Amino acid sequence: MSTILVTGGAGFIGSNFVRMVLTEQTDCIVVNLDSLTYAGNLENLEGFVDHPNHHFEKGDICDGPLVEKIIDDYSVEAIVNFAAESHVDRSIVDPGIFIQTNVAGTLTLLKAALDKNIKRFIQVSTDEVYGSLGEQGMFTENSRLSPNSPYSASKASADHLVAAFGHTWGLDYNITRCSNNYGQYQFPEKMIPLMINNARNGKALPVYGDGLYVRDWLYVYDHCTAIWKVLRQGKRGHTYNIGGNNEKTNLEVIGLILEKLGKSTDLITFVKDRPGHDRRYAIDSTKAMTELDWKPSVTFEEGIAITIDWYMQNTEWLDHIVSGQYEKYYESMYKDR
Ligand code: NAD
Ligand code: TYD
Repeated sequence: MSTILVTGGAGFIGSNFVRMVLTEQTDCIVVNLDSLTYAGNLENLEGFVDHPNHHFEKGDICDGPLVEKIIDDYSVEAIVNFAAESHVDRSIVDPGIFIQTNVAGTLTLLKAALDKNIKRFIQVSTDEVYGSLGEQGMFTENSRLSPNSPYSASKASADHLVAAFGHTWGLDYNITRCSNNYGQYQFPEKMIPLMINNARNGKALPVYGDGLYVRDWLYVYDHCTAIWKVLRQGKRGHTYNIGGNNEKTNLEVIGLILEKLGKSTDLITFVKDRPGHDRRYAIDSTKAMTELDWKPSVTFEEGIAITIDWYMQNTEWLDHIVSGQYEKYYESMYKDR
């Protein structure tokens, strides 16, 4: 038996990771620390909250004594840090909380990891720390960090701190940098679930700028399998890029969603661009594929079909998520666009 502390395990990727581990790894205990912000929801773990190998703790990663108590109480051996503020648009409106959670929160976890002799620390990071690409090329692990948004700047800061703890005090760590994820339980502030939700309700689809921004989309389960492999087989102190080798413009993705839902392209509405919008991301995952024998399990066409079907079969989850605060968020984020 091994015991891992997963932070942010009630969010989109974290909940998919927790579900995968509880389903596929019978010898792993998962302690899930999540403060349940607007993005965290125990409904994302439906059917797994009371799993015998799952222990949910509501709390903040910035709370050092709590983190240390959890490590002691459960004899935690490794930490996988998903907890974060994760939406670029929100970071442009209110960057402060991104520094608090993503930087100060990571620092708190790192200190606790060191004090408590944690065997391995996995920092779940993003390709956005590398900045934006022109028409050619891909990000490798050696690409220079050049973050452009407050979100990516906070994630890059956290990555530097993790590496500094490894360099200065010998903390055993890995950093994973993944491209854009899509799949079940993603909060509908992010592009794919937002467009699915609007399309199903016959609402306008707000496309930023010219819609020709490029993202490299990866199905969330495939991100989770990569993180598991890094946790088990990653080389000490190494960073691993994870991507789908699947570049699409936003208009291509939106076109697929409309086609699958049988909705008209007339719903597409071009709106004011995001300030500082990164033009293109593309990830070279050769290192993860060769060193860890990792590869995605589905193509984008398969993954997006599964995802759209899931949202259409889970309208109760979606309706619940978009009630209350979400309406206020949508109103304020899109009113001046
Ligand atoms: P999310 O916003 O869906 O979930 C974040 C979770 O963290 C929520 O459950 C929230 O309640 C929790 N949380 C926030 N602040 C906390 C705090 N102070 N203490 C404890 N819990 C807190 O995010 P996501 O999309 O699942 O992303 C997870 C991680 O993966 C993030 O670190 C993000 O930077 C990274 N990442 C995301 C993507 C993507 O496409 N979504 C791609 C690459 C990397
Ligand atoms: P998003 O899902 O916010 O991820 P990120 O900004 O971290 O890549 O956005 C994905 C792309 O979709 C990005 O180019 C911005 C664009 N986008 C829109 O055009 N309209 C929207 O309403 C949203 C949320 C995003």
